[in-house]
Amino acid sequence: MAAPVLVLNGPNLNLLGTREPEVYGTETLRDVQAKTEARGKERGLSIDFRQSNAEHDLIDWIQAARGEAAGIILNAGAFTHTSVAIADALAAVAVPMVEVHLSNIFRREHFRHHSHMSRLAEGMICGFGSEGYVLAVDAMASILARKKNPAATASAKRTPPRSRTKKK
Ligand code: DQA
Repeated sequence: MAAPVLVLNGPNLNLLGTREPEVYGTETLRDVQAKTEARGKERGLSIDFRQSNAEHDLIDWIQAARGEAAGIILNAGAFTHTSVAIADALAAVAVPMVEVHLSNIFRREHFRHHSHMSRLAEGMICGFGSEGYVLAVDAMASILARKKNPAATASAKRTPPRSRTKKK
């Protein structure tokens, strides 16, 4: 079976649905999981969805992802802004990572504007609520397809502009 995409959720995300609904919405983490898994199925990716309030769990899961997971979708919650240890774990494993946040962290308090994770991410999605997880699955599907067949992307990039704007 193909290696799964790990979807890792950090502290307090277990409280989704009741936690600051004006910021995070009313969907529960189970709802988010169901949406993420459904999109994974559509994109041919198996999703391994987890949550922990403990930094060491996230670090252990990231370390174990080396050679085991195709990619990581990460919402590290508040650890995003504090955890050099999680960033170090990501740097240590050569697994593509997409960062996701439910809220638009740049519209919020200043301390949320910096992410230790972003430097290590292929890209970051924030501000779209649970839809962000669906977008992250799409992004991961493209990243993995590109990894599998880099020539396809390379030749598309080499297409000279004129051939795309052919005169009639
Ligand atoms: C969050 C944003 C973080 O700043 C916050 O600490 C969270 C959730 C988000 O998904 O919007 O716990 O990662």
